[in-house]
Amino acid sequence: MAILIKTAAQIEGVRKSSKLAASTLKHLEQFIKPGIKTIELDRIAEDYVRSHGATPATNGYKGYKHSTCISPNDVICHGVPNDYELQHGDIVNVDVTTILDGYFGDTCRMYNVGEVSEYAQKLCDITKECLHKGMEQCFPGNHLNNIGYHIAQHAHKHGYSVVYEFCGHGVGVKFHEDPEVAHIADKNTGPLLKPGMIFTIEPMINAGKARAKVDRKDGWTARTIDGKLSAQYEHTILITETGFEALTDVYGDF
Ligand code: MF3
Ligand code: CO
Ligand code: CO
Repeated sequence: MAILIKTAAQIEGVRKSSKLAASTLKHLEQFIKPGIKTIELDRIAEDYVRSHGATPATNGYKGYKHSTCISPNDVICHGVPNDYELQHGDIVNVDVTTILDGYFGDTCRMYNVGEVSEYAQKLCDITKECLHKGMEQCFPGNHLNNIGYHIAQHAHKHGYSVVYEFCGHGVGVKFHEDPEVAHIADKNTGPLLKPGMIFTIEPMINAGKARAKVDRKDGWTARTIDGKLSAQYEHTILITETGFEALTDVYGDF
């Protein structure tokens, strides 16, 4: 399948949906405290998204039954919200994808639960920097895989590993469109970026080994194989004539 070049109307639709996904993450901030269950956060996010006239894209997606993915500590991604109570010192990722007027916006970020260790904070900071290293490669005429090349360079420089079993993806009129956006890749390979493309960059960076294992009970929650911490940040990115616009970067906080 080809990479869609979005029309002006589609871009406007994705922009609005992306803004709502971002404001959902902002809304959640005040609730991220020791003692709250991840299932409670999921409910708060769902209410917020629906009260703004949108639906959570994950709900019903390939049998997934929740409105967010919530991934604490060693969970890499696709953490199924449950009765786990966040604890002081946890790091936790919340990932929200909205459908507003048929358009998709997708974003995730890390939160600290109370005060976290320097070790955990550094992983989150470097992961955020990895996202930005990828975004710097977003301009017309550049090779798609330079995103992943530069993300991996930065992660490895700090002694971290890059998850390769989950990728970024085209997004906008569907949840997951072409292309796959690898977060570790060879320099100057892959298709050339063009204005009007929209895709996510969502690096998952591990403190230990890169490999993921999916929980056999819930079929979704992906954890590190060594139990070490993992972090992730995600923006929905539009390629413009001159570079990029991060459609989910509404607050400038990551
Ligand atoms: N939002 C995730 C992403 O960034 C996808 C979650 S799919 C789910 O691609 F089914 F696990 F929710
Ligand atoms: Co995504
Ligand atoms: Co996402």
